[in-house]
Amino acid sequence: MSYRITSFDQYEKEYKESVENPEAFWAEVAGHFSWQKPWEKVLEWNFDQPDIKWFKGAKLNITENCLDRHLASRGNKLALIWEPNDPKERFIRYTYRELHQKVCQMANVMKRNGIQKGDRVCLYMPMIPELMFATLACARIGAVHSVVFAGFSAQALADRITDSNCKMVVTTDGSYRGAKEVPIKRVVDEALEDCESVQKVVVVERTNWGVALQEGRDVFYHEEVKLVSDDCPAEPMDAEDMLFILYTSGSTGKPKGVVHTCGGYMVYAGYSFQNVFQYDESDIFWCTADIGWITGHSYIVYGPLLNGATTLMFEGVPTYPDAGRFWQVCDKHSVNQFYTAPTAIRSLMAAGDEHVMSYSLNSLRVIGSVGEPINEEAWHWYNIHVGKERCPVVDTWWQTETGGIMISALGEHGPTKPSHAGYPLPGVQPVLLNNEGKEITENEVEGYLAIKFPWPSMIRTTYGDHDRCRNTYFSHYKGYYFTGDGARRDEHGMYRIIGRVDDVINVSGHRFGTAEIENAINADPHVAESAVVGYPHAIKGQGIYAYVICKKSPDNFDNLRAEITETVKQQIGPIAKPDKIQFVSGLPKTRSGKIMRRILRKVAEGEPDKLGDTSTLLDPKIVEEIVEGAL
Ligand code: PRX
Repeated sequence: MSYRITSFDQYEKEYKESVENPEAFWAEVAGHFSWQKPWEKVLEWNFDQPDIKWFKGAKLNITENCLDRHLASRGNKLALIWEPNDPKERFIRYTYRELHQKVCQMANVMKRNGIQKGDRVCLYMPMIPELMFATLACARIGAVHSVVFAGFSAQALADRITDSNCKMVVTTDGSYRGAKEVPIKRVVDEALEDCESVQKVVVVERTNWGVALQEGRDVFYHEEVKLVSDDCPAEPMDAEDMLFILYTSGSTGKPKGVVHTCGGYMVYAGYSFQNVFQYDESDIFWCTADIGWITGHSYIVYGPLLNGATTLMFEGVPTYPDAGRFWQVCDKHSVNQFYTAPTAIRSLMAAGDEHVMSYSLNSLRVIGSVGEPINEEAWHWYNIHVGKERCPVVDTWWQTETGGIMISALGEHGPTKPSHAGYPLPGVQPVLLNNEGKEITENEVEGYLAIKFPWPSMIRTTYGDHDRCRNTYFSHYKGYYFTGDGARRDEHGMYRIIGRVDDVINVSGHRFGTAEIENAINADPHVAESAVVGYPHAIKGQGIYAYVICKKSPDNFDNLRAEITETVKQQIGPIAKPDKIQFVSGLPKTRSGKIMRRILRKVAEGEPDKLGDTSTLLDPKIVEEIVEGAL
């Protein structure tokens, strides 16, 4: 018996059961995991608070499910294959037994350095095996991990460490990304100038640069690990204890810490992995995301390991040393399931077909996409050149807040259609709402995408600010979880995600609040005010278009553009750099002072003839100036 769905008929049957009796459905799935103590109640919920409890009263440790329970039958099976940035460097493989030992050692190093159950630990690291060890080590001892993508700036790192009062940071000396070398430890040192909560920094050596340690605060992992045992008991956790915090952007200026808990997250990450990717026991699974994003949490670390899978972790970038790197890695390790983002697909498509044509890609069985809408051209290219029209393309829609894949085909089971995520997974009840918040029940309609019933891996709160969680997700439409996305349902009931309907932009699959980027731009001393919108970008999906009002007219606009870009890099990181900066003398505002972003969006999209009604503007003249100066 397993929870693997093996036909579309079975999917339809299970979907029906999961809606008619969700508690029985999820209890059955949860029964496939190992629990130290069974639950008293499968589900208690209330979307108004919100207050959601899955598997109440149960005790478990997710790492026992990821590691210990596989040791008897899969001890010598590969758990992790690590492929370095440079193809000339050797790759490393870890069996389940070895990974178990590495995680226990890392956990003991954390404990030795004062970490206890409930403490928050920030992981600011490149994609090296120790990042996976540290993630699981936190879970092992009941510490809460907050992984921060190592491309964020010192300021962004400091904000995230402070928001969740992290006691420890695990990091590296430096990192390799493509042709670049990044001084990771220097960023941490700068960030920690403002963070009082951090008592210890554990430094893993990756580049061997001989970085300086701060006396009393910093320790080297390779020295600490000599002092600890190979065994570390798994801390018993309540199903609703916090497993991790992951920061993501919303429509306000400050990123929020999305909180996931142990039991429900485990059940859904495990279940969705198995079914979407149709993993078979001897398969090699590769998700190209970074563990700093939810995709890496759920489908590099937890989902695969919960199923005893072999997961591949890649340190590098798709275009180094050339645009064939992904395909070379697929052939080298005989990858069976490959999971990446539309932005990567588009950039590799633009680099020319010859890169992909030089590899066989014979081992691939399922190919996936995540993070943003995949346009039809990219979908077809992926299907033809990578999947060879043999592999189903699973277009997986989900969010940091949903913890796992919500809408997708299940491997070859279920129809696929270009740019359509398809049908919801069992247990997921999506609806489309109209402007009045009423459910639209027909097909061939568009609306706001919401979910009307809880699923195990849903967000529980936003760290330190429960009101924010309620206001962002549960108060726009009473009784629903609101996703922030718009979607269309076709004549067969398949979902197509159109994109965000709030002030969030999705740049190369990375989420930013417009206000967050505006705050960063406004930190420049020459800037009086700014407004940021997204616009269609051929590779990135959306580009960042910034309208900037200067305090006084600059001597050189290009220099100021470069300076503002640098300020954004410092405030957030290079991934948030504006693509276009237009200097303006004013912004289109209503009489009540609200910026009419609709107008700015149309100008950025190159459609100034479709501005709509501008009669409520305080100063309609400003629109003419903006249209004339558009980039
Ligand atoms: O707008 C949707 C888009 O990415 C948003 C979630 O971003 P994040 O929390 O960073 O998680 C990304 C990885 C799960 C969603 O609100 N999105 C994600 N997947 C898809 C998508 N848009 C269209 N199609 C998808 N498959």
